[in-house]
Amino acid sequence: MATLDSLATPAILVDRVRLEANIADMQRVCTAHGVELRPHIKTHKMVEVARRQLAAGAAGLTCAKLGEAEAMLPSGVRSIFIAHSLADPGQAPRLAALAEKVDDLRVAVTSEAHALVLDKVAAASGRRLDVMMAVDTGLGREGVRDLAAAQRLATTLGRSPHLRLRGFYTHEGNFYGLPREQQLPRVRELIDRICAVRDAIDRTLPVWPGCSVSAKLVAEHGAGRVQAVRPGAYMFGDLFLSEITGVMPADAVAVHVLATVVDKPEPGLALIDAGSKTFSSDRTGDNIHAKAADGRDLAVVRVNEEHGYVRGAAVDALQVGERVLFMPAHICPVINLTDEVTVIANGQVVATWRVEARGKTR
Ligand SMILES: Cc1ncc(COP(=O)(O)O)c(C=O)c1O
Repeated sequence: MATLDSLATPAILVDRVRLEANIADMQRVCTAHGVELRPHIKTHKMVEVARRQLAAGAAGLTCAKLGEAEAMLPSGVRSIFIAHSLADPGQAPRLAALAEKVDDLRVAVTSEAHALVLDKVAAASGRRLDVMMAVDTGLGREGVRDLAAAQRLATTLGRSPHLRLRGFYTHEGNFYGLPREQQLPRVRELIDRICAVRDAIDRTLPVWPGCSVSAKLVAEHGAGRVQAVRPGAYMFGDLFLSEITGVMPADAVAVHVLATVVDKPEPGLALIDAGSKTFSSDRTGDNIHAKAADGRDLAVVRVNEEHGYVRGAAVDALQVGERVLFMPAHICPVINLTDEVTVIANGQVVATWRVEARGKTR
């Protein structure tokens, strides 16, 4: 097994101790409030991580695409929610095959127009599909915009022989723009809004919101009204979760990019061997792609494909050839850009894990 010093860079390092602590922590909060945890695997895309989430007590997994769900089957998952608008009857055979391999498969239904197409997908699959109705709670992406639209959609579903309404979900991704003090009042509004839709249609059905910024607050303040949460990035963390929204401390973040300083072309600037093909082009609102994880003032302020531009007060003290650990702005695309991650525990390399669902966008 390679040592940390001998790893080729850029390398994606997963700290197994922190990862398992983050998984256990979210599960503990959910269990304490009687709310199921159904993590979204879009962030980690790894069977090894899914196994740990399920072993800790997760009730099932959320996936964006059929390919992600198929890739997670070796984890032993028995309950899958595909939180995306399936609209291609050509995918019906894969959907039917997936349904055979689990106990509970649900897919999203996101509008009346979508329900008509999903009905055809279900008919082509030869099965009745269980569907979760998307309710928009502020992101402005998929989901019914108001109660009247939700009631119309419920009526349409009630007439379909192929679709059966099993609950309601939302993705409150707009919480990434909220400072800590605004999060609790907005969580209360979110719970009221989605539960009002559910209560008007069928009080016996579950409500499943999902976002790492809000998950713990939703579990704590939605107990008895909300049945599950579906966070994705919580077990890894990044600058958005630690610095921008403040929902996890920097020393809990479990994934970093190890990069090498490859040149110092002018005072105040260092170049590293990790660019947009490692960090992606995602950045924080103040245009930072990554920051040094050890607290030094070193920020990746610009990326080309294979170069990161590092600036900050500590830049001139860097040596060419020096390795620096960076915390990315947004972890999800970082994982999707790598075939495997290096797992460390107590500073030692202990394993390499494949990213099985990498690139599974279909
Ligand atoms: C439908 C849906 N559910 C859950 C999540 C998980 O959100 P987060 O990564 O903020 O935890 C996402 C993220 O994009 C999503 O699109």
